[in-house]
Amino acid sequence: MTQRTLSIIKPDAVAAGHAGEILAMIERAGFRVLGCRMLRLRKEQARQFYAVHKDKPFYESLVEFMTEGPVIVLALEREDAISRLREVMGATNPANAADGTIRKRFGSNIERNAVHGSDAPETARAELAFFFCEADLV
Ligand code: RTP
Ligand code: MG
Repeated sequence: MTQRTLSIIKPDAVAAGHAGEILAMIERAGFRVLGCRMLRLRKEQARQFYAVHKDKPFYESLVEFMTEGPVIVLALEREDAISRLREVMGATNPANAADGTIRKRFGSNIERNAVHGSDAPETARAELAFFFCEADLV
């Protein structure tokens, strides 16, 4: 089933100049780019985006990290986009990520892990709407 998902190239990867290679890996994995924006998240936006983690010990640190510099948000489409993107990304902790995954290549640690991907159809819908209007997805 053709599906959409939301990815974020996180501040660590953008600052290190890895955005182009990460986008190339995503394209090589068969994703079509429907939307692409560079922006710097404000604290309130980052808190809202990661609100599901608000009671976790790493929440404030995650918000600091996600707002430290520009990110690139991507609206993506392909067959089984949500699970396939998470395969291309690799495990949350780069130390546990499989060879050839984005996090294995470009992640530094469990927090500074280069990339985000939606984890379910409802979160994908909400996260896409967080950054894009439907009319802008081409
Ligand atoms: P994401 O939401 O960014 O795609 O990552 P994920 O599903 O693989 O992992 P999740 O559990 O949703 O965690 C969200 C992000 O929070 C940071 N994190 N830090 N210090 C820690 O123990 C810790 N755990 C998670 C990471 O940046 C993770 O991607
Ligand atoms: Mg997550």
